[in-house]
Amino acid sequence: MPRLIGAIDIGTSSTRFILFQAETSVVVAVHQIELKKTFPQEGWVEQDPVEILNAVNESINKAIEKFQNHNGDITDILAVGVTNQRESTIVWDKNMGQPLYNSIVWLDMRTTSTVERLLDTVPNKTRNKNYLKPLCGLPLSPYFSGVKLKWLYDNDAKIKKAMDSGSCLFGTVDTWIIWNLTGGVNGGIHITDVSNASRTMLMNIENLNWDPVLLKFFNIPHTILPTIKSSSEVYGVFSNGPLKGVRLSGCVGDQQSALIGQQCLSPGQAKATYGTGCFLLYNTGTVKVDSTHGLLTTVAYQLGSRAPPVYALEGSVAIAGAAFSWLRDNLNILPSYSETQHVAEQADLLQEGNVYFVPAFSGLYAPYWQQDARGVICGITEHTQSSHIVRAALDAVCFQVRDVVEAMNKDYGSVLSSLQVDGGMTANPFLMQLQADLTGIKIIKPDMSESTALGAAMVAGAAVGEWNIYNRRNTSVHTWSPVFTENERDIRYKKWKEAIERSLGWGN
Ligand code: G3P
Repeated sequence: MPRLIGAIDIGTSSTRFILFQAETSVVVAVHQIELKKTFPQEGWVEQDPVEILNAVNESINKAIEKFQNHNGDITDILAVGVTNQRESTIVWDKNMGQPLYNSIVWLDMRTTSTVERLLDTVPNKTRNKNYLKPLCGLPLSPYFSGVKLKWLYDNDAKIKKAMDSGSCLFGTVDTWIIWNLTGGVNGGIHITDVSNASRTMLMNIENLNWDPVLLKFFNIPHTILPTIKSSSEVYGVFSNGPLKGVRLSGCVGDQQSALIGQQCLSPGQAKATYGTGCFLLYNTGTVKVDSTHGLLTTVAYQLGSRAPPVYALEGSVAIAGAAFSWLRDNLNILPSYSETQHVAEQADLLQEGNVYFVPAFSGLYAPYWQQDARGVICGITEHTQSSHIVRAALDAVCFQVRDVVEAMNKDYGSVLSSLQVDGGMTANPFLMQLQADLTGIKIIKPDMSESTALGAAMVAGAAVGEWNIYNRRNTSVHTWSPVFTENERDIRYKKWKEAIERSLGWGN
């Protein structure tokens, strides 16, 4: 009898439901639905929580339909895990179930002024953005949920009232979806897991509880917060639909999930996921490493309520794939991402490629954490073609990864010799070779492309005793090794750093 585990993978651009065979990781059925983003003002990014929920339900229904059309038996589905875009912030009425505002997406920059005001409240007038880092592992930045929640409290009278009276609930996307799938107003469970909670700035990174000092700093009432659970345990069951009665037993933020899916389960292993942004996570085991080079300390996962948490250093890059959507949609110089390889090769043939592009659309995240940085393109001459700009965008992805790898080497005190990669952009072998060349390390890509969803299925399967996640899978991999000389690599990187300097402060 096949043992199947499902994964609900809610990214920023799409959501999908995938059914995996336990332990072999073979994909049995999948359905994906695109998600819309809206941009009500410059720097604002929102999504409709109800649309996300409907898309999750539809992807489950359609995947199950395909599965049954191939004679699949629903009783073989033993558990389901959830993985999600992190930090995006939702508040809803707990009695009616309706969202009180759109989801403020992780990329949203509206809270820049909130951060400025919070910096003013740091004791001794130091305006130290790392003031809360010892407690939560994160610098003050518009990126994190606590800041977004504070903005909602300060700017929306309805939400302020609901938060003060305790008539609303807060959640990141995992929490909203799990609450709804387990019954919503009719007894839905209000939980999150340690990996998602570690992105709010409200959880104590050591004891894994909501921290009174942090709640006071942001002025957030404890009553609206979900219960923090481990990443792998039975939380509840589906209350409705084709999966009614099936256990929900995994929950983990999408970047941490990809770390698990890539089987980076030992200290010293690292992965990079190239999506809208690019996120590098470095497993530091049960040791919480405090970064002094601009990385985040985050919970990677906790495999059961009695297990110790596993930590990671994270380098978050806000804009990776999003730069190509911008080249396609705003500048109209790229038909689609799949054309990048061809266009970049043209640029190489034309030479004169001394163009540098810093896509700091939402400020710069790791390792700079400069919310006032803005995008710049440097080095344009009359010979510059659109292909050079596309090529510079590919370089930018790789340089941003190098920035983070360098910070990881310094923080961890050892040099990373290889990086496991996944995510949509890794389908471009030109980018992968460039990544190896510009970082000087080996790039390894498993043929299994669904690392994020796989991680959620693994922890859900582990919770119900159906998946030993430490059993190594037999996966074939592609490897790219650097061919640039050290000198060539360093000359280019120096120029990149100069371009970064030019982007800083532009948003002031
Ligand atoms: O921190 C944001 C991250 O979780 C977003 O992931 O997959 O939507 O690019 P993704």
